[in-house]
Amino acid sequence: MADEKTAASGGGRGSIEETGAYFRLIAENLTDMVALVDASGRRLYCTPNYGFLDDPSRLPGTDSFNDIHPEDRERIKDIFFETVRTGKGRSTQYRMVLKDGSVRRIQSQGVAIKGPDGSVSKVLVVSRDVTEMNAAAERQKALEAQLFQAEKLSALGKTISGVAHELNNPLTGIMGFCQLLLRDDSIQNNSRHREDVITIFKEAERCQKIVRDLTTFARKHKPEKKPLGVNGLLEDSINLQEYQMSTHGVKVEKDLCPDLPKIMADRHQLQQVFVNLMVNAQDAMRPVSGGKTLSVRTRKTDGTIRVEITDNGPGIPEENLSRIFEPFFTTKEVGKGTGLGLSLSYGIVSEHGGRIWAENVPGGGARFCVEIPITDVRDIPAGKGEGRAGVFREGQRILIVDDEEQIIKLVVRACGLLNLSSDTARDPATARRKIAAGNYDCVLCDYRLPGQNGAELFQWAVAARPELKKAWVLMTGSTGSDDLDDICCPVLKKPFSLEALEEALGSVLKRA
Ligand SMILES: Nc1ncnc2c1ncn2[C@@H]1O[C@H](COP(=O)(O)OP(=O)(O)O)[C@@H](O)[C@H]1O
Ligand SMILES: [Mg+2]
Repeated sequence: MADEKTAASGGGRGSIEETGAYFRLIAENLTDMVALVDASGRRLYCTPNYGFLDDPSRLPGTDSFNDIHPEDRERIKDIFFETVRTGKGRSTQYRMVLKDGSVRRIQSQGVAIKGPDGSVSKVLVVSRDVTEMNAAAERQKALEAQLFQAEKLSALGKTISGVAHELNNPLTGIMGFCQLLLRDDSIQNNSRHREDVITIFKEAERCQKIVRDLTTFARKHKPEKKPLGVNGLLEDSINLQEYQMSTHGVKVEKDLCPDLPKIMADRHQLQQVFVNLMVNAQDAMRPVSGGKTLSVRTRKTDGTIRVEITDNGPGIPEENLSRIFEPFFTTKEVGKGTGLGLSLSYGIVSEHGGRIWAENVPGGGARFCVEIPITDVRDIPAGKGEGRAGVFREGQRILIVDDEEQIIKLVVRACGLLNLSSDTARDPATARRKIAAGNYDCVLCDYRLPGQNGAELFQWAVAARPELKKAWVLMTGSTGSDDLDDICCPVLKKPFSLEALEEALGSVLKRA
């Protein structure tokens, strides 16, 4: 790009000095750095903004290659001596190592200066520090890639949900008629036909599963964010898969940061993410013959909480790392993977303002990292209420009303862990008697009770003891048919985790 220049000559003595002073003034006030070096690379002159390397007055006479990062040095020497040989300057980037060991990225342009004999005697090097500019460009690139991914997902989501709903009706037909056929005498007596129908039914079931995955993937509902303890959620996710893991010989190692602040998150959605990652890890470890280890780690980093799920499987081939979050990308055999787990997880984590990425572990295996920002968690002080022992102020009494013996047993145990003393009632009549006679800080009441439902009992209790209006928690095993709309009290859906129980009780009881 740059052409050779010949050292200025001619003009009167005074005017050369004057011109020189002007040029110096210009060079020393540029934001770019300017250095003049001899044909061996030794510095003859440096502008003051070289001060980031050393005292600029000490630089003349030093070797300009010394400050270049060792990995870039030979390449830069080659370019420099090519300029000296040919007189053609080139622009290039390289790293410079400062005295304190920090590394800067520099962009330089060499300009050959020929002496009177026509050979290159000096090189003028004009440089600029592009470290920040490069970093900003990289951030921009990553952001664009993320946006691209998000847009692709949302466009695809719309198409998919339409198709999935269209498929559900014929599938219902296929499966329903298969079941009718299976009850038919002529089929029941013909084992070959029976087997064929069962195969059709099973294949339809497979389609149903794919459609279900697709609909979850396409469902564009906003996360319902509530204060959430991630450690408890991880424990639940591990427990959900305990059976599979133990049958496949997977050892789980937990390293959960004890004072993790709560985050605002949709419990159900995040659980889906963690379960996806754990299922993938188990799939990946299937061929491992030695010990299979799944490690789950949580950490608090600057403004975020980070969850790492690591396996000791074969890891992810480099060429796949950038593709695994794409919808339908799967390396699993036909019928085993839908390739939607990770793109679904990606969508959920993005909706939570977080990041998810994968990396290979040096010793072998893959690690998935999820980072969720710690935002304003309402009313819950950091580090409290992780569903662990002693979270409620001591001395508070709770009445548990349920006709299921094992639920009573479970809740009594849990209340002990939470610092609460508990009393029980197995039917509405006993509950009414106890409420009339005793002082309870909270009543945890099942909806479906013999004789009188939990909502009616609530109405009665509020009339008898108005203070219970803000101290009632309903439990329900139904998925929506119970009429809970006109009761304004927290509802705990069965089956519940201990953390969910603590969360529900936390909304009416005083914490420690
Ligand atoms: N822990 C892991 N180790 C190695 N590869 C993985 C791991 N998790 C995911 N992958 C790769 O990412 C792909 C996509 O995963 P996912 O979106 O969950 O779809 P699926 O599990 O249905 O294949 C997998 O097929 C696999 O190739
Ligand atoms: Mg998967």
